[in-house]
Amino acid sequence: MSEETTGITPFYDVDRTYEDNYRFGPFGAFAQTLGGDAKTGVSDDQVKRALESAPSDDNDAAAANATEPAESFFGVPVDLPFGIPAGPLLNERYTTGAFRMGFDLAVYKTVRSRAWGCNPFPNVLAVHPASADGILTPGSAECDEGVLADHEFETPISISNSFGVPSQDPDVWQPDMQRAMERAGRGQLLVPSFQGSRVDGMTPEQYVADHAATARLVLETGAKVMEMNTSCPNEGHNRLLCHAPDQVSTICEAVKNTIGDVPLIVKLAYLPSDDDLEYMVRVTAGRGLVQGFATINTISAKLVDAKGAQALPGAGRDRSGVCGAAIKPSGLDMVRRLAGLRERLGLDFGIVGVGGVTEPADYFEYRAAGADAVMSATGAMWNPDLAQRIKQAR
Ligand SMILES: Cc1cc2nc3c(=O)[nH]c(=O)nc-3n(C[C@H](O)[C@H](O)[C@H](O)COP(=O)(O)O)c2cc1C
Repeated sequence: MSEETTGITPFYDVDRTYEDNYRFGPFGAFAQTLGGDAKTGVSDDQVKRALESAPSDDNDAAAANATEPAESFFGVPVDLPFGIPAGPLLNERYTTGAFRMGFDLAVYKTVRSRAWGCNPFPNVLAVHPASADGILTPGSAECDEGVLADHEFETPISISNSFGVPSQDPDVWQPDMQRAMERAGRGQLLVPSFQGSRVDGMTPEQYVADHAATARLVLETGAKVMEMNTSCPNEGHNRLLCHAPDQVSTICEAVKNTIGDVPLIVKLAYLPSDDDLEYMVRVTAGRGLVQGFATINTISAKLVDAKGAQALPGAGRDRSGVCGAAIKPSGLDMVRRLAGLRERLGLDFGIVGVGGVTEPADYFEYRAAGADAVMSATGAMWNPDLAQRIKQAR
């Protein structure tokens, strides 16, 4: 069991379905900070009561200081530019839990223009790259031949996630997202993530329009900054939207025409080629369509069990995205290369460093590499006090 080997109940419980996590979560320390139970989760009423009876320590401390938060995120003052990226924060209860645990940036899990189902359970496995240091190199033979995946969660934590970007209907997520924003404390920010949905029979123009329509729905919630995911497999097997920079540019133009001055962050996967990365930057940030990049998403690898058989059940699930400690060098590499391009091209886009942040030192390493903000998904799931520890260390 996940908590038996690591001693921690992650706030997204990998032993439950996505639907159960959506209904009952968060779990672990996030549940406790909201007046719920680590094992059984938390209800909306408990969250309401917890917020009425005791504002978070962090907010108290910030209010007592009454000074402006020290840093900013795309022009919005934040205490520490550190948080949780798109994915494990499924709804307002999760984002409120994250804020109360001191994560000053909380990205609301990627939403769509329509309800969208989740891949079958299980959605999260532990992964164990073969190298002595546990690092997985993108495009390596191991990614194609198979990485061991099982239920032995251990530290430093590396996992795979296979959800298929599920979404509630906008009638559900819009009011929930609005509540999530209202529950950000002083020096904290809720960042919505969205993406387009490709359905059978859709023309390229309709696909572009779907992105713009989703951005409009997000804008209606009052978002101050928003993130567009271009790094999930929606162009066919192992092909990502961010592998088609001209298409990304066209989509960004339509989105930007919809959202106006609201800063737009594009979420990128690891792009190994310097030329491809430069082209992407030129046709998006270089055209003023994009104000920042968040990178990286997961690294695609074939997952196998101890007998070498497909680890995740079902067709089309032989490969899955790997995240956590195994991908930190790749995340740092993308951040360094983006920072280099920013300087060389004289552009001023922001960089959100993501990938393998599991310890406070990782936050500082990403900042030194050029990241303006840093986020942790896998690391935070198993280290709910990570933001507090970074604040102590700074
Ligand atoms: C449970 C889970 C769900 C995720 N879902 C999304 C998602 O909906 N949209 C997205 O852009 N990234 C998603 N991601 C990817 C993360 O945002 C992040 O890019 C990736 O996990 C690498 O960071 P990490 O090493 O800190 O986990 C998800 C990650 C996890 C662990």
